[in-house]
Amino acid sequence: MNVLIADKFEADGIAAMKEMGCEVTSEPSLKDDALIEAMKATGCEILIVRSTKVPAVALEASPKLKLVIRAGSGYDTIDFKAAAERGIRVCNCPGMNAVAVAELAFGLMIALDRRIVDETVDLRNGVWNKKEYSKARGLKGRTLGVVGLGQIGYEIAKRAKAFDMKLIYSDVVDHSQRESELGIAKRTVDELLREADFITLHVPGGESTKHMISTPQFAMMKNTSFLLNCSRGGVIDEAALAKAVTDGEIAGAALDVYEIEPAATDKEFKDPVVNAPHIYGTHHVGASTEQAQLAVADEAVRIVKQYRDCGEFLHCVNT
Ligand code: MLT
Repeated sequence: MNVLIADKFEADGIAAMKEMGCEVTSEPSLKDDALIEAMKATGCEILIVRSTKVPAVALEASPKLKLVIRAGSGYDTIDFKAAAERGIRVCNCPGMNAVAVAELAFGLMIALDRRIVDETVDLRNGVWNKKEYSKARGLKGRTLGVVGLGQIGYEIAKRAKAFDMKLIYSDVVDHSQRESELGIAKRTVDELLREADFITLHVPGGESTKHMISTPQFAMMKNTSFLLNCSRGGVIDEAALAKAVTDGEIAGAALDVYEIEPAATDKEFKDPVVNAPHIYGTHHVGASTEQAQLAVADEAVRIVKQYRDCGEFLHCVNT
């Protein structure tokens, strides 16, 4: 069974697939035409990707292609509908990196409240300003609004309890068990935006969520609220966000994801949103802890094994 890995992937996972008898080609910097050429050259039956985009044209490159595995949770970088039309299954690794994303979201929440990034920049510039940086409002008793109470939202809500935060969520599905376990109350998105002090987004990317947070939504938020996005860049209208923070409609935001992101191997990033005031940013690294990446690799190997042994597609997202 021929497997092409077109992204950075844990060595343990590669070794496990080789032990299974798979012929594995690992080329972490493949993208665009190079991806298509490598798929043609290897005639891969399985393609594993993380950030690398898989458009419809790439799905044609290897006639033997049966399975595309997203080594992560979201799969908006893969044309999964075109794959379904060609009988190619797309499978993801849900929940494996949920704790890692939740940990980053918490880091960002505290960083925003305490302005840790600005403080560090000032210190590096030789500035001491205890007065200015003594205005944090604190997390205890504040309301955390979790938009999307899936695996990641759930891990964040669990951690928020330890900080004595009040919890509300919105979701297209009901989570009655999680509601009683965590004491988290359901709201509509609009109610949540009006009520929360911290809003954290955990919804899938794609057309259904594109710009779900834009000018009308910023108008609903408290001017003391902070917005966090560790889901997908397109969920927030970045131009509207830049205006909202500049005009003081919200207190600040932290982004791990952006409307247009470079490929993992690119070195340049020129999104103006990161220059707006009170916006902190990280490099789409929510899922990038060692333990999360090992768990994702293990799950990808399990998907390969299930397919090889039983012809079944574990976590298939495009049947
Ligand atoms: C995910 O969808 O799980 C993350 O975006 C994974 C990643 O950073 O590759």
